[in-house]
Amino acid sequence: MKVNVLFTPESAEDLYFTGKATVVLDILRASNTIITAVGNEAKEIIPVASVDSAVKISKGLFGGSTILGGERNTIKIEGFHLGNSPAEYTSEKVKGKTIIFFTTNGTKAILKARLSANLFIGAFINISAVTNRINKLNQDVEILCAGNPGSFSIEDAVCAGMIVSELKKLNTEYVLSDSAKAASILYKSCGSNLLETLSESEHGKLLLKNGFKNDLEFCSQLNTTEVIPYLSGNVIKLLSGK
Ligand code: MLT
Repeated sequence: MKVNVLFTPESAEDLYFTGKATVVLDILRASNTIITAVGNEAKEIIPVASVDSAVKISKGLFGGSTILGGERNTIKIEGFHLGNSPAEYTSEKVKGKTIIFFTTNGTKAILKARLSANLFIGAFINISAVTNRINKLNQDVEILCAGNPGSFSIEDAVCAGMIVSELKKLNTEYVLSDSAKAASILYKSCGSNLLETLSESEHGKLLLKNGFKNDLEFCSQLNTTEVIPYLSGNVIKLLSGK
């Protein structure tokens, strides 16, 4: 079984993911927001490719049980109910709701990999749960980093490297691609202080500048939840029966 890391969604065509087992990572912050929303019993999350699609889809759904969430340039989009801070997605706000969700990189990465046979959303907060789950599939593994418009993001790559290292500990027979080896080396050198790694990343600095220090602290926690969001058709739901 192989493990491969894609450092940006642009590294592969949509069809590449057909039938694969994929973990999508957008550490700052979409993965963490989705995990939190699903953990707080949102009914489902519909990832969309543009703000226009979000608005169009929301018009066709029941007002009271549908909310719009996401960001542009890290900030909540005008007319949306919620931004992209995990802390906003409380049980009071999301329980039972369908969330139409747009973010700059995270939702694009999810949509890019939508043809995967199994698509999970991962982050540091659910890393052991997601790694154990993917290992049980006994399949080749693709780890897709959302990156930052078409380029490498260190926080996603370090998380990918941690998954690679954990998979290898669970089963020594995994064969690592060069990118998986590179991610694993990066994790070994930058994984011991996640808050520092996130705070010094390009996107982390922008989030700090825009007042989202609490989000960086949240996103740098390890294994605080066993929640695994899973793409089923066009919607993200809580994976049950781990
Ligand atoms: C994204 O999808 O690009 C991010 O989650 C952006 C953000 O920090 O809100």
